[in-house]
Amino acid sequence: MRSSLNIFIFTFTGFVLTYGKMIPEYFPLCNRYDKNLNDCLLTATETIKPYLSKGIPELKIPSFEPFIIPEINLEQGTSALNFKATLINTEIYGLTDYTFTRFDFDVSNLQFFCDCNINCLTLKGNYTVSGKIFVAPILGSGTFTASVENCNASVYQKVKIEKLRNDKDFIVPTLTNSSINVSGPKANLQGLFNGNKQLSEITNKIINDNINELFQDLKPVLEKIMTEIIEDMLLKAIEGQVPFDELYPPLP
Ligand SMILES: *[C@@H]1O[C@H](CO)[C@@H](O)[C@H](O)[C@H]1NC(C)=O
Ligand SMILES: *[C@@H]1O[C@H](CO)[C@@H](O)[C@H](O)[C@H]1NC(C)=O
Ligand SMILES: *[C@@H]1O[C@H](CO)[C@@H](O)[C@H](O)[C@H]1NC(C)=O
Ligand SMILES: *[C@@H]1O[C@H](CO)[C@@H](O)[C@H](O)[C@H]1NC(C)=O
Repeated sequence: MRSSLNIFIFTFTGFVLTYGKMIPEYFPLCNRYDKNLNDCLLTATETIKPYLSKGIPELKIPSFEPFIIPEINLEQGTSALNFKATLINTEIYGLTDYTFTRFDFDVSNLQFFCDCNINCLTLKGNYTVSGKIFVAPILGSGTFTASVENCNASVYQKVKIEKLRNDKDFIVPTLTNSSINVSGPKANLQGLFNGNKQLSEITNKIINDNINELFQDLKPVLEKIMTEIIEDMLLKAIEGQVPFDELYPPLP
């Protein structure tokens, strides 16, 4: 009796170790040779939405509502913008209000193409900044809020298939890039110039009067940050933990 129980425990532990984190039951799966694979993936982006907002602990995916970025470093060195800023504990609200219009997995060439639209993103957090924006000095620290009315994002990912653990194939990203466009960006920094009301108002007005140019200049940095989030927190988390054959099962 005792020994068979031991065997059972041993086998069960072996199973958990083999498969690592197990895919939760609600996690949508699409067959890689399904001729409607891309439609299946689009539907999957909707199925997963409520779970993504709370986070998927089984796959070490953090909560996306809000999504928290501990630290962002921004540094611009152009003639119009010459500043260093650090954003601490940035909370992003609205990321899961997304609609994917494309989620294509080109299986034979091992690449993904995704397009998505997000309505109303808001960000808040703490900042420190020093330097110049549009020839005016900017200096201070405090809290900030920022928002966009609408955002389009395209993500491309090239992957390879590699045997990583337990002789199983996993998807490994070799290149991820993304591009974003936003409309209606706004930003407000509280606490500039040690809380000097007049300087703070002038600086916030300069920022918002030139916000589209500011966004264009910061776009490459923001795209890099977005690429890192998508690659590290979402795709690598899923792709690195769930074997290829389980994530995109071949048809029986
Ligand atoms: C953010 O700033 C607020 C107000 O200045 C402060 O109370 C809070 O401790 C700061 N939080 C972090 C994480 O720095
Ligand atoms: C952003 O806008 C540019 C120029 O209009 C366009 O070429 C690009 O495809 C857009 N990107 C996204 C992600 O919508
Ligand atoms: C990603 O990089 C590839 C190859 O360099 C390029 O063709 C594609 O347009 C880029 N896509 C995005 C979304 O930036
Ligand atoms: C995003 O794309 C849609 C559809 O092409 C377009 O109507 C919308 O204006 C775009 N938004 C931004 C911020 O570029």
